[in-house]
Amino acid sequence: MSPDTSSLLTHPDRNLALELVRATEAAAIRAVPYIGRGDKLAADGAAVDAMRAFLGTVNFDGVVVIGEGEKDEAPMLYNGERVGNGRGPSCDIAVDPIDGTSLTAAGRQNALSMIAVADRGTMLDASSVFYMDKIVTGPEGIGIVDIRNPIGDNIRALAKAKGKDVGDMTIAILDRPRHAQLIDDVRAAGAGTRLMLDGDVAGGINAVRYGTRIDMCVGVGGSPEGIVTACAVKALGGFIQGVLAPKDDVERQRGIDAGLKMDHVYEADELVESDNTFFVATGVTDGGLVAGVRRLGPIIRTESVVLRSKSGTIRRISADHLAAKWL
Ligand code: FBP
Repeated sequence: MSPDTSSLLTHPDRNLALELVRATEAAAIRAVPYIGRGDKLAADGAAVDAMRAFLGTVNFDGVVVIGEGEKDEAPMLYNGERVGNGRGPSCDIAVDPIDGTSLTAAGRQNALSMIAVADRGTMLDASSVFYMDKIVTGPEGIGIVDIRNPIGDNIRALAKAKGKDVGDMTIAILDRPRHAQLIDDVRAAGAGTRLMLDGDVAGGINAVRYGTRIDMCVGVGGSPEGIVTACAVKALGGFIQGVLAPKDDVERQRGIDAGLKMDHVYEADELVESDNTFFVATGVTDGGLVAGVRRLGPIIRTESVVLRSKSGTIRRISADHLAAKWL
């Protein structure tokens, strides 16, 4: 009897994840000429072009839920754009051709190219509110940590669950003036901080991944990044909560009009309803998750991760690309 493959036509499958890596690899490679050149828009533009071209060849019927912005401001990979060749599974897709455009432009570490995918209609479209307050931990935080609790209580509870001293806990936070009190509170609790210049998706993933130095990632970052992080966290079996953080009353009302809930704790299943999520990322510059793109004579070497919730696998993919093909 031949295996039933009908669900592969409607749901994203393992082959899709490997196909998507080609798009993040391409975006990272095309960003290379702009690393450390001071022009973040040019870096992003090159990555967007490359990612879109590759996505067009992939066997799926994707709708960009989180992209480069609204159609009038983003000519490509705009929210609502259909991507893929239209055949195969129907998916929501979140793209961030470069998370860390400023890092790339400055030549700093931790810039990534990333894509997250889930079943169609299951990703929260939080694009009308720019910022989200988030808390991310490994599986030990489930049922123990809560974004409504004071940070000191969360740190102590997580430390106990992990069997660690509070003094050995490290909390990742974006280094922003808005986090001054949060940073003080973390230190007052006795934990250390890992202040990030940018890139809180990687911070979140590192809080979940086994064997890293980060125990928790907290604070206000982009809402789109929150959804992308949720896809990765679900694939890794970790914990995430998010609360939308509108800048002002106008943005708050815009969010409400778009059907979003304010002052509501979004749990992982509300950020991404599907349990069938994928996350792929390729390093643009070197970072804790993956190494950045590097030129080795005739070769361009990329390093990527592929996370897939169905299998609970984190797979690392190192690829050598013939540089002559990319000139
Ligand atoms: P970009 O690459 O789009 O600039 O995003 C970088 C980033 O650090 C995200 O990882 C984070 O969620 C967001 O910016 C935080 O926003 P802000 O820099 O306004 O604090």
